[in-house]
Amino acid sequence: MSNNLLKGKRGIIFGALDSNSIAWITAERIFEEGGIFVLTNAPVAMRMGQINELAEKTKSTVIPADATSTDDLENLITKSMEILGGKLDFVLHSIGMSINVRKGKAYTDQNYDWTHKGLDVSAMSFHRVMQSLYKNDAMNEWGSIVALSYIAAQRVFPDYNDMADNKAFLESVARSFGYFFGKDKKVRVNTISQSPTPTTAGKGVKGFDGFIKYADKMSPLGNATAVDCANYTIALFSDLTKRVTLQNLYNDGGFSNMGVSDSIMDTIENS
Ligand SMILES: NC(=O)c1ccc[n+]([C@@H]2O[C@H](COP(=O)([O-])OP(=O)(O)OC[C@H]3O[C@@H](n4cnc5c(N)ncnc54)[C@H](O)[C@@H]3O)[C@@H](O)[C@H]2O)c1
Repeated sequence: MSNNLLKGKRGIIFGALDSNSIAWITAERIFEEGGIFVLTNAPVAMRMGQINELAEKTKSTVIPADATSTDDLENLITKSMEILGGKLDFVLHSIGMSINVRKGKAYTDQNYDWTHKGLDVSAMSFHRVMQSLYKNDAMNEWGSIVALSYIAAQRVFPDYNDMADNKAFLESVARSFGYFFGKDKKVRVNTISQSPTPTTAGKGVKGFDGFIKYADKMSPLGNATAVDCANYTIALFSDLTKRVTLQNLYNDGGFSNMGVSDSIMDTIENS
């Protein structure tokens, strides 16, 4: 299905690790909608991932960049503009990682070196990406920047651990940098708060299987899939949403406004 919503638009997509990644599925959909882009991921992830396969499929170039390195980001942005033939119209930040989560360290027993690393990778990297784009004047007017978030930024999900704090930081950066990007460059900045989705990052969270089933039972429309997230991102990259900015937008089947659902009540009453 294509509506050519991104025809003639150029961008950078961060975070396609494997075919389950939200960024991978978004790249496929952006390609279908006529957008051209550079794919990027951390050099260490490239060896594990199958990103070259995606690059071939979407006729795109891969440039490695660690999102915690300003030098890598400067190189990525300069080279992307050369390869794509001009300034950028869209950027997707689809990056998240917590060593505390990965190693099963409880929120009440943090290893702060790991907490610091997770914050740098998952949240400060969004500021770093935008600062590099801003300083290099790399975005076209009416361009659009999106990062992916989760509702643990607002509500308590104990096993989401320090990623909850990282997402709160990420959403705040979207608003704070979005102000300057809007005022100075007419560029919009938003976060999409996505349902639990079975990806490498998602499945790394303790109790993920319960998490995803609970969210699905709670949401009147059920969980939003990675394809739903890709489609929402495309809407935000398109000219149809030109004055949507500084928002955290829920793509979650209604979960964020629910208190309880019949389905959850049935499960509890019958347990
Ligand atoms: N899966 C879910 O349930 C879910 C729900 C809401 C939001 N999100 C968010 O969606 C985004 C994408 O995650 P995903 O679920 O597709 O998982 P994923 O594991 O496929 O993607 C995470 C990506 O981050 C990349 N990354 C890690 N460290 C990096 C670094 N230093 N520099 C550059 N890239 C780095 C990884 O290589 C990987 O490609 C993340 O921000 C995640 O928090 C996921």
